[in-house]
Amino acid sequence: ALVSMRQLLDHAAENGYGIPAFNVNNLEQVQAIMEAAHETDSPVIMQASAGARKYAGEGFLKHLIQAAVESYPHIPVVMHQDHGQSPAVCQGAIDLGFSSVMMDGSLKEDGKTVADFEYNVDVTRRVVEMAHKLGVTVEGELGCLGSLETMQGDKEDGHGFEGTLTREQLLTSPEEAAEFVRRTQLDALAIAIGTSHGAYKFTREPTGDILAIDRVKEIHARIPNTHLVMHGSSSVPQELLAEIREFGGDMKETYGVPVEEIQEAIKYGVRKVNIDTDIRLAMTAAVRRFLVEHPSKFDPREFLKPAREAAKAICIARYQQFGAAGNA
Ligand code: G3H
Ligand code: 13P
Ligand code: NA
Ligand code: ZN
Repeated sequence: ALVSMRQLLDHAAENGYGIPAFNVNNLEQVQAIMEAAHETDSPVIMQASAGARKYAGEGFLKHLIQAAVESYPHIPVVMHQDHGQSPAVCQGAIDLGFSSVMMDGSLKEDGKTVADFEYNVDVTRRVVEMAHKLGVTVEGELGCLGSLETMQGDKEDGHGFEGTLTREQLLTSPEEAAEFVRRTQLDALAIAIGTSHGAYKFTREPTGDILAIDRVKEIHARIPNTHLVMHGSSSVPQELLAEIREFGGDMKETYGVPVEEIQEAIKYGVRKVNIDTDIRLAMTAAVRRFLVEHPSKFDPREFLKPAREAAKAICIARYQQFGAAGNA
């Protein structure tokens, strides 16, 4: 059934686990997530970015997710709008039937200018007012995603600040978080702790100097009843990078967020963990391998099948690693 995100995150908080939130753009990704959730008995958060809505078309995305709900009636599914850039975008998603929306007021409506605190409070509070009346959950974001290694904003996937930021901007302040929650009354808060979107997060295995898991603890201590969200949480498995390179791909050395660090964050209030890149890497590695190993094949179903299997394997692993398995 389609459920609100609040319901799933409350259960996760009561039972001390985290839920991976996977981005979806097409049929095979939706199928992979549902099969993984079915096999592991996990709750599902499927999220669509503005880019996903543009790629698939709103009607296709809506009905793909509805098909998932119908095909797996025993699994609770959240249909979440990822990175809404304005109250109008969130309103549009709610009209389309989304059960959860993110108002990303950390950036202005252009998606690339850093917003001030008052702007963020204002847009987020407005979305909470319209969403809560309808039982729709609201996620907000405070702080700027970006790299503590390079001090650059997060621009890899086309939205995010392009340029140098201060350490204060790159780490969510616990005091500001408390005021933000009090004034907006939102359900879930995405925080900046050194993660960024895309495959190129870190040039080495991250340690405490470039990935601030300790900040999660400090924020959680101030707002223990607010569900925390980690964006940019793909782990960028080295074996997938190796497979992509082996079959003709060209990706430079890079590191993601280690699963053990995410598990540590889950102990301190992180309930939603956003993952897109790992599924992209898994599907690309599988397609590259298949087409190289079977140069005469041309039926898309033949290369999409291993791609779907590879995506499913990532989803199963994250459901198990974050403790969501068994909680559908
Ligand atoms: O927010 C980032 C997600 O990975 C979605 O990426 O905007 O390319 O669909 P996208
Ligand atoms: P990754 O690029 O690390 O998968 O992050 C996805 C995300 O945060 C979507 O909002
Ligand atoms: Na990046
Ligand atoms: Zn994100």
